[in-house]
Amino acid sequence: MGVKIVETALRDGHQSLFATRMTTEEVCCALEELDKAGYYALEVWGGATFDACISFLNEDPWERLRMIKKKCKNTKLQMLFRGQNILGYKHYADDVVEKFVQKSIENGIDIIRVFDALNDIRNLKSAVDATKKYHGHCQIALSYTTSPVHTVDYYVNLAKEVEKMGADSLCIKDMAGVILPEDAYELVSKLKASTRLPIELHGHCTGGIAEMAYKRAIEAGVDIIDCALSPLSGGTSQPCTESFQYALQGTKYDPKLNVEMLNKAAEKLTKVKDKYLANGLLNPKALIKNPNILKYQVPGGMLSNLMNQLKQQNAMDKYEEVLNEVPRVRKELGYPPLVTPLSQMVGTQAVMNVISGERYKMVPKEIKEYLHGFYGKSPAPVDENIRKKIIGDDEVITYRPADKIEPQFLALKEKYKDLVKSEEDVLTCALFEAKAVKFLTQRDQKDEIIEVNLYIG
Ligand code: CO
Repeated sequence: MGVKIVETALRDGHQSLFATRMTTEEVCCALEELDKAGYYALEVWGGATFDACISFLNEDPWERLRMIKKKCKNTKLQMLFRGQNILGYKHYADDVVEKFVQKSIENGIDIIRVFDALNDIRNLKSAVDATKKYHGHCQIALSYTTSPVHTVDYYVNLAKEVEKMGADSLCIKDMAGVILPEDAYELVSKLKASTRLPIELHGHCTGGIAEMAYKRAIEAGVDIIDCALSPLSGGTSQPCTESFQYALQGTKYDPKLNVEMLNKAAEKLTKVKDKYLANGLLNPKALIKNPNILKYQVPGGMLSNLMNQLKQQNAMDKYEEVLNEVPRVRKELGYPPLVTPLSQMVGTQAVMNVISGERYKMVPKEIKEYLHGFYGKSPAPVDENIRKKIIGDDEVITYRPADKIEPQFLALKEKYKDLVKSEEDVLTCALFEAKAVKFLTQRDQKDEIIEVNLYIG
């Protein structure tokens, strides 16, 4: 059996390279070819795509999913799901998590990749249980990072726990692209030896070592690798799909993808990429290898966000300083892996620490909540001096954060009964309330305009 490939261009590819701005039309333009290429799955939804749809594109993310499903008859569709945060940036009630899983599967998702930024498995449970209940494939992803607590044994123990929870497969989610080739070999070997779960590796090319890490993971027996089609690969995105097909062709690892289909799809997506290069959303910097991230351990998406934040404040000269501040903040906060929402939180805190001229003088609300325990358990203890400075002697919770969140779905359904047209709309409101109201109002106005035009025409 060869190595299987998951195509990420339509989710992580554009999320990593140009802030998730691909429109539904662009996402769909090469689906016919991709569906015939022989992938294990296409990652097309979840992550930041949902927020980007309603916040920037004025598009219904649910409609996007249904359109993708219509065009993909052969290949499984995969989404990224942030545990109790779903596709948002805070914890939601269990009933919303369950409903979101149910509706994702009903609208076309086959594989749900669930992760928690802190690897606090209590935050995975609702999503995992719901995925099993609605007969989806439940993949649990472990947020990969390096720190004194994030050892191989730490990941092996976590893997055993998620296997017990009912995961169907396991992903090493290296969102920063920092896994070293020999570490990948050791980790995959030990995971293969200690669980029965298929193992997938998700990396990023940011530091320039992902292809080497993939190769060593393959030699250690990894079952699936995440790659992006050439136009959306490299830089802060995933290793290139076609390159892996060529590299492994004829070996026992041959992914057996249809190169002709890959090339046709790549041709179409190159036009899409060129548009974002031309309009500046794709910063050429995102396409260049940056081995410094191996020092800073900062994911690609976070790098481009930091750049944007600093640009807006006319402080690009502080870029290096902010990058140096990130690992300090991370250490003080107990080594959270830098993945959404923690990456944004740590990044914003680092920017504030540098720009305000005094560390922790300004602290975002989310960091305060984190210090109260509302995101879950930090991998290592938080620096007590920092905690005291920010939240004083406030109580720090030790129960699962969502335990105290009342059910939300029915209340929202009632609250927005004049606005929502489906349970999917209620979920959009549940995730991004203010933005969702704005989006749904605009969407319906757009519908009316089209209807009027049709009537006139
Ligand atoms: Co990623």
